[in-house]
Amino acid sequence: MTSCTLKKEERSEHYCESHSSMKIATFKVFRGDINGGAEVEYKVPVEEGMVVLDAIHYVQKNISPDLAVRWNCKAAKCGSCSAEVNGKPRLMCKSRLDDFDLSKEIRVYPMKSFPVIKDLACDVSWNFEVNKKIAPFTPKPDTDWKMSQRDIDRVQEFRKCIECFACQNVCHVIREHDLKPKFAGPRFFVRVAGLEMHPLDTADRLEALKDDMGIGFCNITKCCTEVCPEDIHITDNAIIPLKERVVDRFYDPLKMFFRKIWGK
Ligand code: SF4
Ligand code: SF4
Ligand code: FES
Repeated sequence: MTSCTLKKEERSEHYCESHSSMKIATFKVFRGDINGGAEVEYKVPVEEGMVVLDAIHYVQKNISPDLAVRWNCKAAKCGSCSAEVNGKPRLMCKSRLDDFDLSKEIRVYPMKSFPVIKDLACDVSWNFEVNKKIAPFTPKPDTDWKMSQRDIDRVQEFRKCIECFACQNVCHVIREHDLKPKFAGPRFFVRVAGLEMHPLDTADRLEALKDDMGIGFCNITKCCTEVCPEDIHITDNAIIPLKERVVDRFYDPLKMFFRKIWGK
């Protein structure tokens, strides 16, 4: 996109005069840190094909070089540019400006469920701590690695996750109730589903799902599925089958009876 060639002091109120003939979008961007902050308004000239991340980069380059934002691939693959755009968690690099009503302001905020580090960058490290507690893929030592295509197709969906944490951000168990210590969240139910449904995996994660990961707190609202940029059917294909396995194991009276008799 076109760069503003004026010196900073020649610009008036975040608005670049050299773009006065172009369509201008108004952004309200959160500026601040863990102690608080406020919205700052930026006027950004719009070019064809621009996404929200382009607008943030325009602001960084031409108006506020200290605006903090995390991004990497700009191709919807690294998962690092997640933010709340007009209140909805999205990848900024996948949010085209022509999908917004540019006569209205576009608000860009960091994800609400995680502590803000600065501006649009927040601390998502809790997610990586949850991830470390999940038993990894555990094939038999003598496995011959043969799998049917149907089994591969089933787990492939879960491997599409790019760890953008939009689902974690929107889940009310984390966002409103802040049950982080007891609840792993939809991203990690997706990961566990990919492992538990893998035909060659031998580890058992059902007790951890029930006790440590708190799958019982999920009441299947499907908010996580609605925001997933990879279109993973988080609730239907990962969470519900895992819940069924937990119920079968721990709450089915007939199975509990036989387990008592045969000890497994
Ligand atoms: S379906 Fe479950 S995991 Fe997904 S947002 Fe709702 S409560 Fe959270
Ligand atoms: S499951 Fe979807 S929304 Fe959740 S972290 Fe993965 S890609 Fe993002
Ligand atoms: S920059 Fe990588 S997903 Fe947006």
